[in-house]
Amino acid sequence: MIKKGIILAGGKGTRMSPVTKAVNKQLLPIYDKPLIFYPLSILMLAKIKNILIVVNKGQLQQYKKIIPDGKSLGIKITYQEQDKPKGLPDAFLLGEKFIGRDNVAMILGDNFFYGQNLTGKLLNSTKLKKGAKVVLHKVQKPEAFGVAKINNKNKIIMIKEKPKKFISDLAITGLYFFDNNVVKFAKKLKPSKRGELEIVDLLNLYRKKNQLSADLIGRGGAWLDTGSIEDFYKTSAFVSAIENRQGFKIACIEEIAYLNKWITKREINSAIKFYGNCEYSNYLKKIILWNQN
Ligand code: DAU
Repeated sequence: MIKKGIILAGGKGTRMSPVTKAVNKQLLPIYDKPLIFYPLSILMLAKIKNILIVVNKGQLQQYKKIIPDGKSLGIKITYQEQDKPKGLPDAFLLGEKFIGRDNVAMILGDNFFYGQNLTGKLLNSTKLKKGAKVVLHKVQKPEAFGVAKINNKNKIIMIKEKPKKFISDLAITGLYFFDNNVVKFAKKLKPSKRGELEIVDLLNLYRKKNQLSADLIGRGGAWLDTGSIEDFYKTSAFVSAIENRQGFKIACIEEIAYLNKWITKREINSAIKFYGNCEYSNYLKKIILWNQN
């Protein structure tokens, strides 16, 4: 079972300047909560309790104000600063000590997933023992993402980062599962022309060994992008539509911790005090009521 996860939550957020000048992108709101809650909730749904969050140098205090150490969620959160955005695989170099001898999941801090059966799929992926696994989703503009071409047995035969020429419309989402070789493989990588270590180069090392598998999120699931201001509004509108229709929140991290039995009513009450008099706290009060036996 994969029990460790990394959230890559640095990056300059240049495409979203000026709003990202003072505050990191992952701390900006997607509707009613900071973006970081969404990828964090995905790891928690995968029952991953040991989490490393990689943040930009100089922005650690911003994160600690909202997610101090994980105790309030019954999990362990460690932070690691990244000097500058050196590429996604840098997470495995920075996280070498954290990973130790274990397998590890990684999620990009700006990725949003939602859909039925998501938890089942996540739990299945954490069973990975050897190799690497990516999660694919059909998109209209594949040129904006890492892309995978698969054969009729769902086997990946080609992967490319932001291909100019069409090869497939299956984007490689920002959720990955790796065996322990990931650190060794990340050390072999050389920066690309744009000066970054590339996730597709890392995945290709697995693919060449026939050790890269794929899971597909079907059309009933949503994977949304939060790369631009426009995406922030669209994703916020999506969350608002679902939450206001159903009355359930997406990515309420305390609710997930409570339903996983990692925390009790006591921590929920402390969270209510921590957040203060707000709509999110009102929801936390309801969680206690709904789950009273
Ligand atoms: O969202 C999925 C896509 O994410 C994949 O399809 C691509 O293969 C993958 O390269 C990545 O593409 P992006 O262009 O979206 O990556 P970006 O540079 O925007 O970084 C994604 C997140 O990771 C963002 O929240 C910032 C953070 N990051 C990025 C880099 C390069 C870091 O924390 N440190 C870094 O060094």
